[in-house]
Amino acid sequence: MEIKNKNVFITGSTRGIGLAIAHKFAQAGANVVLNGRSEISEELMAEFKDYGVAVAAVSGDVSHFDDAKRMVDEAVEALGSVDILVNNAGITNDKLMLKMTEEDFEKVLKVNLTGSFNMTKSVLKAMTKARQGAIINMSSVVGLAGNVGQANYAASKAGLIGFTKSVAREAAARNVRVNAIAPGFIESDMTDRIPDKMKDTMLNQIPMKRFGTTDNVAEVALFLAQQDYLTGQVIAIDGGMTMQS
Ligand SMILES: NC(=O)c1ccc[n+]([C@@H]2O[C@H](COP(=O)([O-])OP(=O)(O)OC[C@H]3O[C@@H](n4cnc5c(N)ncnc54)[C@H](OP(=O)(O)O)[C@@H]3O)[C@@H](O)[C@H]2O)c1
Repeated sequence: MEIKNKNVFITGSTRGIGLAIAHKFAQAGANVVLNGRSEISEELMAEFKDYGVAVAAVSGDVSHFDDAKRMVDEAVEALGSVDILVNNAGITNDKLMLKMTEEDFEKVLKVNLTGSFNMTKSVLKAMTKARQGAIINMSSVVGLAGNVGQANYAASKAGLIGFTKSVAREAAARNVRVNAIAPGFIESDMTDRIPDKMKDTMLNQIPMKRFGTTDNVAEVALFLAQQDYLTGQVIAIDGGMTMQS
């Protein structure tokens, strides 16, 4: 897909991986829709001025269906369409299973998995009608391999992989492609919160012995949007962590 002049909606793009994806697409000439639960600042919008693309900001919570639908409507009103959706918004709430409450579990599922359903549902009909579209879901290596203290997060990210492949099968004949990215450990606010001792243990599990950058993930997102014979795939970008022998 030619990216120039396409409209891309990136959920959770006020910082971290989502913001890097927004910059990457804008550099490639796409108009971007920024999103987060909090209000999107003028300073953040100004970061995109030099790319010469249109930038829209829609605040709201992807975990509420009505909010997701309203945000997509606002984006369409501002830019005319949503051609590419990146379901990036995500949260963690780590606890060992024995300590995890029903609420801890449901809260993470509601943002990471149901949020992606809400947004996909809100854009898919128009994409299939246009016979063109790309959806990219942000999974995680934790969704492939599991992780101690992350039963809720792993379930949400593994669920996203099944969701990706199912929607990819349903939408393929309409030229709407759906893929997932499974990042390993990427330097961001999310990973900044991890204690140093745990970070050292993680580094030992990475064949490349370093964390990835948000830009590494953004490059994969751009590639998945551009490559128009690629659908139903999960691309792990993890320094070799999950390579199979
Ligand atoms: N960092 C990693 O190592 C890593 C590895 C694998 C996968 N991932 C995945 O990559 C994605 C981005 O991670 P990150 O590290 O960049 O996270 P981050 O720095 O914590 O940023 C999360 C973004 O999501 C937004 N957000 C959170 N809940 C939301 C909601 N309910 N509705 C709308 N926006 C919401 C946040 O904005 P507000 O706070 O304003 O809502 C923020 O913009 C997540 O899905 C994460 O699970 C990250």
